[in-house]
Amino acid sequence: MKRMILLGGLVAVVGFATWFVMRGPNMAPASSIQVDRSEARVARGKYIYAELAHCEGCHSERDFKKFGGPLVAGMDGSGIVFPKELGLPGRIAPPNISQDPELGLGRWTDGEIIRAIREGVSRDGRALFPMMPYQNYANMSDEDVESLVAYLRSMPAVKHDVPPTKVDFPVNLFMKSAPRPVAGRVSAPDRADRLAYGKYLVSMASCENCHTKKERGEPVEGMNYAGGEPFRIPGFEAFSANISPDVETGIGGWSEEKFLDKFRGYRNFTDENLPVAVQANFTVMPWLGLRNLPDDDLKAIFAYLKTVKPVRNKVDVHPPVVSKL
Ligand code: HEC
Ligand code: HEC
Repeated sequence: MKRMILLGGLVAVVGFATWFVMRGPNMAPASSIQVDRSEARVARGKYIYAELAHCEGCHSERDFKKFGGPLVAGMDGSGIVFPKELGLPGRIAPPNISQDPELGLGRWTDGEIIRAIREGVSRDGRALFPMMPYQNYANMSDEDVESLVAYLRSMPAVKHDVPPTKVDFPVNLFMKSAPRPVAGRVSAPDRADRLAYGKYLVSMASCENCHTKKERGEPVEGMNYAGGEPFRIPGFEAFSANISPDVETGIGGWSEEKFLDKFRGYRNFTDENLPVAVQANFTVMPWLGLRNLPDDDLKAIFAYLKTVKPVRNKVDVHPPVVSKL
């Protein structure tokens, strides 16, 4: 009898383990939508791609010898392999999302692109590593995601091949729980509701993802927006700032004007006069995109950040000596 129970238990464990390893992500078929590519849509999509959500920042070859890491000319949407110094679990390679038919999204349907962005499933049904912020983009309104696709369709093809992402065990198994189908229509928040609109922008811009310290890939509880997450590339290191409304260590003492000026100040840089990157100014903060947000958006972002929990956490954003890896 005892042996039967043991055997039954073993079968259950093996069954569970097999399911856990073999299971696919939670997914729905891609919609058959064909998005309208009006000029207004393309312009809105460009704002999301290059400024608000800075898709280009993760998906393109960049020149980190210069402040802010501008895109390498001709490589917009090229795909890239992230440097191992970032400490990610495996080879993480945001793919080519240009219109190249072989290497990019040229042959994908509009519905397949929307599903990847909001639901985290690639064309072939594979779960995407959730560093691609699809859990945030799940809230991207239908209007915005369709505008984004209209813009992506207007981009030139870039011939640049990157090897596929290869996530280490066991993260590769756990991450299959991340994708989720988006049910029904997603509407944009009312712009007149400043906090709801600010929250939406903060989510689309992934502020919290970068500004919250992580342990084993998970945000540390109670440390939301309190900064301290390291970002390393060869030779350089920066820690995200505390942008919670703590008065002493965060932005609690900042006026709205100071906040806006911080972003607008970077508008003085052009491709020609961008400073050389040094340890004291090295950053992955998408200043070069976010600096162009309209004042109205920056104000809504500031208003929302003022409502999150203040966390006392002093961060040395640019330590003078880069840690040994
Ligand atoms: C923080 C970095 C980051 C940002 C920001 C980001 N992505 Fe990604 N994206 C990734 C990574 C990493 C992958 C690959 C994941 C994988 O293969 O498991 C990916 C995958 C994708 C894919 C799937 C491509 C394929 O071949 O499977 C699409 C489409 C995509 N991203 C579009 C976008 C768009 C559009 C935006 C902006 C709204 C965006 N991404 C913003 C990191 C990012
Ligand atoms: C890709 C990661 C990343 C994203 C996304 C990001 N930040 Fe940052 N941010 C950083 C890092 C790293 C720093 C510190 C280096 C610097 O100041 O440039 C920083 C600095 C800042 C600072 C300067 C704080 C100070 O004390 O000077 C502000 C303000 C800020 N971020 C706000 C935001 C907001 C608001 C968003 C979303 C709209 C955002 N960040 C998105 C990484 C990020």
